[in-house]
Amino acid sequence: MVQQPVLATDRLLLRPYTLEDARAVQRLCGDYAVSATTLLPYPYPDGLAEVWIASLNESTERGAAAAFAVTLARDGALIGGARLRIEGDHARGELGFWIAKSCWDRGYATEAARAVIGYGFSALGLHRVYAMHFSRNPASGRVMAKCGMVHEGLLRGHIKKWGVYEDVDIWAILSEQAGLTGPHVSLVPSGVPV
Ligand SMILES: CC(C)(COP(=O)(O)OP(=O)(O)OC[C@H]1O[C@@H](n2cnc3c(N)ncnc32)[C@H](O)[C@@H]1OP(=O)(O)O)[C@@H](O)C(=O)NCCC(=O)NCCS
Repeated sequence: MVQQPVLATDRLLLRPYTLEDARAVQRLCGDYAVSATTLLPYPYPDGLAEVWIASLNESTERGAAAAFAVTLARDGALIGGARLRIEGDHARGELGFWIAKSCWDRGYATEAARAVIGYGFSALGLHRVYAMHFSRNPASGRVMAKCGMVHEGLLRGHIKKWGVYEDVDIWAILSEQAGLTGPHVSLVPSGVPV
């Protein structure tokens, strides 16, 4: 069973989700602005957050994911999420992230994504971390660029969202490039209250 650590950055603590996060996840992910550029349903149904958190934690335990609730270090408030979906045979992880709309444009997604990428390379031994975003969501691409990821291409009509075929951009960073962005992360010893 894989033990999920807590990652500390300048302003954030990235910790495993617990079922107590479900109400906040439903409220924040249920925001139309967050749903519109992700595959999250809208409206966000009752009970889904509990199922999602349980499945994320189960995936993490068997090494198929590393999923973190993004919280503010100063008060513990949950403001987002970041995760790697891991394909171990290829030492590859797909990065995904979201931040509550009230907290956009303060650098939180970049800070969290850098930490998770650093964790993927240093602790999980990944070779490649990639991420995709709807082409109409340039803020997400900007986060990926700021994390040192390289734009690899555009997948035309790759995803059908709310009945519309969406173009998707794909970005990636390889382990040998990761030194360019630095680790930006420290592991908090287990037992530290968060
Ligand atoms: C995409 C998202 C995660 C960004 O979170 P964030 O905390 O605001 O990101 P950051 O503050 O770290 O960086 C955002 C960058 O995008 C830029 N940006 C914001 N809106 C933009 C736009 N319309 N066009 C271009 N750049 C934009 C910001 O200026 C900033 O870049 P800068 O630091 O060079 O100024 C957030 O908007 C979100 O959660 N959206 C909904 C869910 C989602 O789309 N998740 C990503 C799925 S791939």
